[in-house]
Amino acid sequence: MWEPLEHFSHINARANAVPAPDSASMLHGREPVPMFAERCLTTVMRQLTAGYTAHAPATMDSLPSPLPGHGYTLYVHVPFCERLCLYCSFNRFLFQEDRARVYFGHLRDEMRMVSRLGYDFSSLYIGGGTPTILVDELVETIDLARELFSIQEVSSETSPNHLTEQVVEQLDGRIQRMSVGIQSFDDMLLKQMDRYDKYGSGAELFERLVATRGWFHSLNVDMIFNFPSQTEASLRRDVELIRASGCNQTTFYPLMASPESAESMASAVGKIDYSREGDYHHIIGDVLCAGEAFEASSAWTYSREKGGMIDEYIVDTPEYVGIGSGAQSFLDGRLYGNTFSLSEYADSIESGRMSVATAGRTYGWHDKMRYQFVVDLFGLRLDKRRFREQFGVPVDLGLLGEMAFMRAVGAFERDDPECLTLTQKGRYLLVVMMREMLAMSNQHRDEARAALPAAERLLLLEGCDLPGALEPECAPAV
Ligand SMILES: C[S@@+](CC[C@H](N)C(=O)[O-])C[C@H]1O[C@@H](n2cnc3c(N)ncnc32)[C@H](O)[C@@H]1O
Ligand code: SF4
Repeated sequence: MWEPLEHFSHINARANAVPAPDSASMLHGREPVPMFAERCLTTVMRQLTAGYTAHAPATMDSLPSPLPGHGYTLYVHVPFCERLCLYCSFNRFLFQEDRARVYFGHLRDEMRMVSRLGYDFSSLYIGGGTPTILVDELVETIDLARELFSIQEVSSETSPNHLTEQVVEQLDGRIQRMSVGIQSFDDMLLKQMDRYDKYGSGAELFERLVATRGWFHSLNVDMIFNFPSQTEASLRRDVELIRASGCNQTTFYPLMASPESAESMASAVGKIDYSREGDYHHIIGDVLCAGEAFEASSAWTYSREKGGMIDEYIVDTPEYVGIGSGAQSFLDGRLYGNTFSLSEYADSIESGRMSVATAGRTYGWHDKMRYQFVVDLFGLRLDKRRFREQFGVPVDLGLLGEMAFMRAVGAFERDDPECLTLTQKGRYLLVVMMREMLAMSNQHRDEARAALPAAERLLLLEGCDLPGALEPECAPAV
């Protein structure tokens, strides 16, 4: 019988024998990651994403109706967690059962509104927060989605303490793709993230993953790399443990901070060092893909099987309808944001309106080309013929500057009349682009949270017992 903990200790010992990080050990035998390209791209992306994600308050009772011939994914947001992690900018509140039950009821009402608008979906993605926080409510919500729409596949996020037989039994046949946040197996980092007490030590997390094998069609494990105090040895050990855990997919997110949260994070856990991010990304790919154990399925996701689940639902269907507080929709080149306030959300739904509170500018033709370029390359392949059919112009002409930059930095592995694929450098540059896009979304979420009514802000503050985690006004513990 295979002993998970024995395996854990073995990898622990091996990884600890890896020399402490220095630039020589990280770069040995590898081409350096283009720091200059990363810095340029970060600066440009910060400017571009500020424009692309800018939004204004919107007074609309519902989202626009679907357009013929367009495919959509349904995203459902469940904004409750038992513990609020320091680094997380998603819309999430401290769990209270009565509030959460009312909320799930409203989600189902909003789902009916979407159905009445004429939308249909084959994929449902339930994110959070922690969607599995009330399993009976989650089951009812998934069952309704299957009644209303032609759902073929359901993906959901969860936290490690919900990976139990009792929870999973109820989800059997309902969720095909589960994604669990582990973040790291390093106890020191778990403590800094304030996850150790709630979700367990690295050894316990590993054991839980091993016990979960075979429960879902696909199990994705979310990890975070480049935490300020993470060493190369600790990263290598995390990656080795993922290989040994039996999960069939993993996503390694670079630690992302909005400009605003970067400061509070720096005083709590240290400043993010972007200069080593590319090397760490390279190590993750090298270790995971050695012996073809995993292969990259997006710039930061790796799967055991070809065509595995990609956590970023935008790769498969770029347009999506988001329901629930804090969810976003992206429809015909325009972003819509739902209210972050639980009470405003309840008021809208109870009065028969959807909860849209903001809308961005409509993307022009060039913006849509750029968006498709990033989404396709993030999924590792851009089909040049499809691009031409979609936009009526070859990508080489439509995106002259973008193509010149990517070629100059050696981002493309294949660049022929059929398609573009990425080198390792190119994959890392896509990570940089996506990191900046998500960091900007975090910034908008931080702003939306700051504007919440006082009573709701209190619900957000449980995480501030970490030294310097948030501003002084949150000091009184809730
Ligand atoms: C929003 S959570 C929801 C699922 C679940 N509650 C969890 O903790 O995994 C999904 C994943 O986003 C990632 N994440 C959240 N905030 C992040 C940040 N600031 N930087 C990098 N990754 C982050 C974490 O890996 C997390 O597991
Ligand atoms: S990362 Fe932490 S705070 Fe964020 S959604 Fe997951 S459990 Fe909640």
